[in-house]
Amino acid sequence: MATPNKIDDSTQYWADVLSKNWGIKSKLTRLDGEYDLNFLAISTSKKHLILKVMRENCPEWLVKSQISAMQHIEKIANLPTTPTVFLSLNGQSCIEVADKTGNLRYLWTLEYIPGKCLAKLRSKPPSLIKEIGEVLGATTKALSNYKNKKLDRDFKWNLLQSGWIDDHLTCIKNKNRYELIKNISVNFNRRLPELKSLNRQVIQNDPNDYNIIIAGDYDEQKTVSGIIDFGDMCVAPRVCEVAIAGAYIVLDAPSPEKSLVALVSGFNQTCPLTKLEIDMIWDLLLMRLAVSVVNSTMLALEFPNDPYVTVSQKPAWDFLENHKINAELLKCRLRKACGQEFVPNERRIRSWIYKNCGNFAQVIGKPLASVPLVSLAVENSSIPKNPFKLSKHEAKEIGSAETCENEIFLGYYNEPRLIYTAREFSFGPYKASNRRTVHLGVDIFAPAATPVFAPLDGEILALENRENALDYGGMIILEHKTDYNDVFYSLYGHLDPNFPKQYKVGRKIKKGEQFCVLGDIGVNGGWAPHLHFQVALTINGLENDWPGVADPDDLGFFNAICPNPAAILNLTDERVEFRPIQKAEIYAKRKEKFAGNLRLSYDDPILFLRGWKTHLFDEWGRPYLDAYNNVPHVGHSHPRIQNIASEQLRKLNSNTRYLHPNQSDLAENILSKLPESFKVCFFVNSGSEANELALRLAREHTKAKGMITTDHGYFGNTTGAIDLSAYKFNKPNGVGQPNWLELVEIPDDYRGTYKRDDPNCGAKFANQINQAIKVLKSKNQKLCGFIAETFPSVGGQIITPPGYLEAVYRQIREHGGVCIADEVQTGLGRLGDYYFGFEYQEVCPDIVVLGKPIGNGHPIGVVATTEEIANNFDNGIEFFSTFGGSTLSCAIANEVIKVVDQEALQANAKKMGAKLKTGLKNLKDKYQSIGDVRGMGLFVGIELIDETGRENMRLCSFVKNRMRDFRILIGSEGPMDNVLKIRPPLSIEIGDIDMIIDTLDIILEEANC
Ligand SMILES: Cc1ncc(COP(=O)(O)O)c(C=O)c1O
Repeated sequence: MATPNKIDDSTQYWADVLSKNWGIKSKLTRLDGEYDLNFLAISTSKKHLILKVMRENCPEWLVKSQISAMQHIEKIANLPTTPTVFLSLNGQSCIEVADKTGNLRYLWTLEYIPGKCLAKLRSKPPSLIKEIGEVLGATTKALSNYKNKKLDRDFKWNLLQSGWIDDHLTCIKNKNRYELIKNISVNFNRRLPELKSLNRQVIQNDPNDYNIIIAGDYDEQKTVSGIIDFGDMCVAPRVCEVAIAGAYIVLDAPSPEKSLVALVSGFNQTCPLTKLEIDMIWDLLLMRLAVSVVNSTMLALEFPNDPYVTVSQKPAWDFLENHKINAELLKCRLRKACGQEFVPNERRIRSWIYKNCGNFAQVIGKPLASVPLVSLAVENSSIPKNPFKLSKHEAKEIGSAETCENEIFLGYYNEPRLIYTAREFSFGPYKASNRRTVHLGVDIFAPAATPVFAPLDGEILALENRENALDYGGMIILEHKTDYNDVFYSLYGHLDPNFPKQYKVGRKIKKGEQFCVLGDIGVNGGWAPHLHFQVALTINGLENDWPGVADPDDLGFFNAICPNPAAILNLTDERVEFRPIQKAEIYAKRKEKFAGNLRLSYDDPILFLRGWKTHLFDEWGRPYLDAYNNVPHVGHSHPRIQNIASEQLRKLNSNTRYLHPNQSDLAENILSKLPESFKVCFFVNSGSEANELALRLAREHTKAKGMITTDHGYFGNTTGAIDLSAYKFNKPNGVGQPNWLELVEIPDDYRGTYKRDDPNCGAKFANQINQAIKVLKSKNQKLCGFIAETFPSVGGQIITPPGYLEAVYRQIREHGGVCIADEVQTGLGRLGDYYFGFEYQEVCPDIVVLGKPIGNGHPIGVVATTEEIANNFDNGIEFFSTFGGSTLSCAIANEVIKVVDQEALQANAKKMGAKLKTGLKNLKDKYQSIGDVRGMGLFVGIELIDETGRENMRLCSFVKNRMRDFRILIGSEGPMDNVLKIRPPLSIEIGDIDMIIDTLDIILEEANC
């Protein structure tokens, strides 16, 4: 509800009045209100209610009308969303009382509806908007038999009477704006007779977003808890109610069309609308906005010093001037959402087409029933190699690799494809913005110059040459009539645009007449020669610019407008309709066949089928920004890694028992990046195996077992690695801490014992080592060494404070131990300034462990060490890891190292990391819920806190999940899981960083903390 104002000095006075007349002792807080005094009353028994003290001279009928309308709704429909009016001690719903100055005021009290007004909600999901529609519809329905002559009044906000603005349009001085409003008014006036012909009833008439109350905290399911303020009621056609609500819902909506459809479909569910009413909604909505801006422009002239008047117009002008809604398509959408035929006789047209299947002339003169289909689907095709840029060559060769020399083949209807890479297919500024992917026609691939015949009688409606690369080239649209004179349309794309001279719009084409030929690559937009064949049941709103491809999240609508054209090709729908992989089936199988602790990310897991650099694509081709996975170090499906891997597999993949240059090259490459003292490499399969081996090396070298590590670390999933990983063994049901291991505090200089502002905090954390050594000794455990992630990751993306490792290593070595640096997360340039994390700490470990990034997704781990340690390990027993150091693994790891260098990815990590941190620090200044932003290069953590500074796990989980809704993958870490983890492939670009920052901003604002 409205936010409390500062205490009015009359609150005690009105509290006394409330107590005397309603018997409720309470504390009052003033609430917003344009004309009247509104108070929130909290009684001594903590009951909340609203006290309304009406403005002086408020007409009695208006107060009584509001009360009786609300009581009527309660009686008829008992809607919990309409506040109950409470009677006074002597049974009155409204009393008249003098205020302190002696003026008479009407007073009434009503139920307090918990929640906040819709206007305060940053995100308004379609499901919530639909519920708003349902509640408004139910309220309107309940009012339909409420009679009140007084409400049939002269009222500037009654849409029926909104023609008044015509006499005041000149107050709008900006010519374009004037024209805009004038047009809206002209359209409205055209519809006015129809509007007047509709039945009228009392409507609430002001469902703006301050009068709709929503319950549910930021991370909870939101519901409509109330519709308040019946002070603007009037008698008007019921459709005005939903149109007025729509006028507010569309403002600021990321997808106004979707929001409006949700609202209207909800309204229609509880208060069914006729087709005529549905068709009026858009014009009424625009008129309401027009009335609103004219009214506020007049007010601005009257009160030039009131900035609020101008500010409040802004969203309406922004919408009116910038919306991209196509009125005709919107009508179709609204009709469909309300279960109406979205074009006249839509069902009859479709059944006529099906009935005639088999009798249509063959479009390329040959039957297509046994022609093969070639899939270009996300799940079946690796074209385009770069899903953000289809190359000319790929377009030219499309399908050719899969056709097995067939001259003629078909492409699927409803197939999600990644080949549509031009800007116009994307809905937003980022690479991971939603994009249109689903093909709405059927392709018939055939040689250039193949003749094209009309499948049925038609008339040319459009013929164009669309010369842009990857457009249609020659294109013809035919208009057809069924036996019932219903009209539908067919489109032929990628034609030879040298149409016969006599072709004009309106020319009749007979069934079976050859009317064009397929274009070759030079004239058909640059594609392998084929016909794009599509059908539409309406062209209102499409005109000559049909979308050949649809947004997967809007497919239902476009499938209705452009149904499967198979029947006109004398084919069954099933033959050409693509059915993508079913996520639900894969999920069910996974649950059945795997243990429950093989976890999936997100409650609604994502199925990914393609990747490219920093992006992933799901089964519908929806792009996601991967700011989480550090394994694809140089980027998903990096072309150089693809090439080297496939080439190596074509040649040989063997093991380390035979000589191969890949192995020695890899050892040489890795050692060249490490300090001089490192002389020997071991290749294994994973980080876990590498840590396991590192432990064996250390133990063999020292002939001791006792280890020290930092709390909350993770070293892998093998028995030995788990024994080192407090993050696992200390969990409930974990194996517990082995007696040969001692933990020291994680050197967290934000939350730990020593803080960042202490210049010696690194050394102070390190001093805990001595105590750990003592404890080991007391347990008769001889010190073997120290192992730690150089920057602890699962511990909360900690940047180890300077001086820490230097002091730790010194103490460990003084007691004969060896120092192991796990660089699985931090190695290979991720940190920007450093190739390895230990360089920042100015130390030289004895053993370094590498994993994840070195194989870019291919399993390989590396242990590098000194000659002395390696020699001590060489005790005569063979060391062998079957797949470790395979020819393929080594080829890939060598290429990763080269790509990091040659594509300057370490420098990119530095640059992008700095940009990311600056953006995040700006957000920290804006939101108190960001306690700390830390990181180096592309190893970044954001610690979320509550008002008291404690770990805010709830917000962290909300943000992580909401980021996924916006198609960004990030993780969370830390002992309490309150640290957002950002750790993208090093290929991340500036636009991706912008997307992360912009989206986090939106989400934190949504959470409002
Ligand atoms: C720091 C660190 N070390 C070791 C490992 C284990 O690597 P792998 O999963 O390849 O066995 C991980 C895995 O997350 C890790 O983060």
